[in-house]
Amino acid sequence: MHNSDVLLVARVKVKYSSASFNLNQAGHVKPIYLDNAATSHPKPESVYLAVMETMRAGGSPGRGSYRQAMDAERLLFETRELLAELFNVPNSERFIFAPNATMAINQALFGLLKPGDRVVTTSIEHNAVARPLRALEDRGVNVVKVPADPATGRVDLVSLKQVCLALPTRLLVVNHCSNVIGTIQPLEQLGTWCRQQKILFMVDGSQTAGAIPIDVKTTGIDLFAAPGHKSLLGPQGTGFLYVAEGIELAPLIYGGTGSNSHSDLQPEGFPERLECGTLNLPGLAGLRAGLIYLQQSGIEQIRCRELELVSKLLAGLNNIKNLKIYGPLEAEQRCAVISFNLEGRDPAEVGYLLDQQKYISVRVGLHCAPDAHRTIGTYPEGTIRVSPGYATTDAEVAYFLEAIDDISQARIK
Ligand SMILES: Cc1ncc(COP(=O)(O)O)c(C=O)c1O
Repeated sequence: MHNSDVLLVARVKVKYSSASFNLNQAGHVKPIYLDNAATSHPKPESVYLAVMETMRAGGSPGRGSYRQAMDAERLLFETRELLAELFNVPNSERFIFAPNATMAINQALFGLLKPGDRVVTTSIEHNAVARPLRALEDRGVNVVKVPADPATGRVDLVSLKQVCLALPTRLLVVNHCSNVIGTIQPLEQLGTWCRQQKILFMVDGSQTAGAIPIDVKTTGIDLFAAPGHKSLLGPQGTGFLYVAEGIELAPLIYGGTGSNSHSDLQPEGFPERLECGTLNLPGLAGLRAGLIYLQQSGIEQIRCRELELVSKLLAGLNNIKNLKIYGPLEAEQRCAVISFNLEGRDPAEVGYLLDQQKYISVRVGLHCAPDAHRTIGTYPEGTIRVSPGYATTDAEVAYFLEAIDDISQARIK
């Protein structure tokens, strides 16, 4: 279907909508985007502009000493510095750019683990962690999963510690916040304990980087992976891995870095050791703009706003009959992710009705985290997941709640 057809269909259908706020200035429908856990939308205007300007400017970092190449190099440096400041890391060279969190996680796990190593993880990991660990298991790595509580989504620290101490453990990998249940795990306690026990501590910060203040240094995180395209507000195709000083990782990919070109060996120094090939400079320019936006707005302010939205959603959903919310009912214990189901209804059908009848975008199903669904008892159908973002309005939340109520009472079919 051509783009204009989509808009035409949208305009025809919008008459069924009880709200007028989802029309843009041209009278075209503007879907209500509540899938920020997948990727944030909209991005700040400065992000779109930065991507475009960088594409127009040209130049490739580390690939020349002319003006454009040097500007590109500066852009990378500034983006790394912004990340270092945000996560309280003294040396920004320890941030490796990646196309997404998945690649960053793969670099960490495949770069670190060897046959015979033991890894402890949880039952609420995204496939970005679960699948590489499964592949490593086939290569002789011993992987142990500690279940999270089905009701709260919280990992029990006592049993986690017991499992870690049962045999020599090299690494603990934890999802800071489940992209299904939304529960935040206590990183500080885990990091401090891992340090005492000399167990390396890796965090998948995909749902929390940019949404919740994280101090990587004082928390004692050794490896931290996150996408640039979720709460850091950058474009898709961006992500990073932080590697603490002293941690050796074998590169996942070998190739040109623009440095030490005379040698056929991968450079030893960071970030080049783990970062080769031409980088996504426009994407990283967008990420830099997203990071500046966060710095100027203040993560605490954004967190407060998202907490307000999550509280409203939890209260509203809780009032709807035959609706089950998974995970804690207290907003403070969550990131901006809520999974729920309507009794007797297939989540896929609910998602379809929301999209087709109400122009509401949410994600339904397993959310690339089948283990998390097995944990809370929603496998294989999954859940309906609503995830507001910094730009979500109160009116959009109210409209969404009304739509769910309508679906639950079969007023929308
Ligand atoms: C918890 C978690 N980990 C990893 C990922 C993978 O992120 P990316 O798509 O940037 O690789 C996601 C994305 O949804 C996620 O929610």
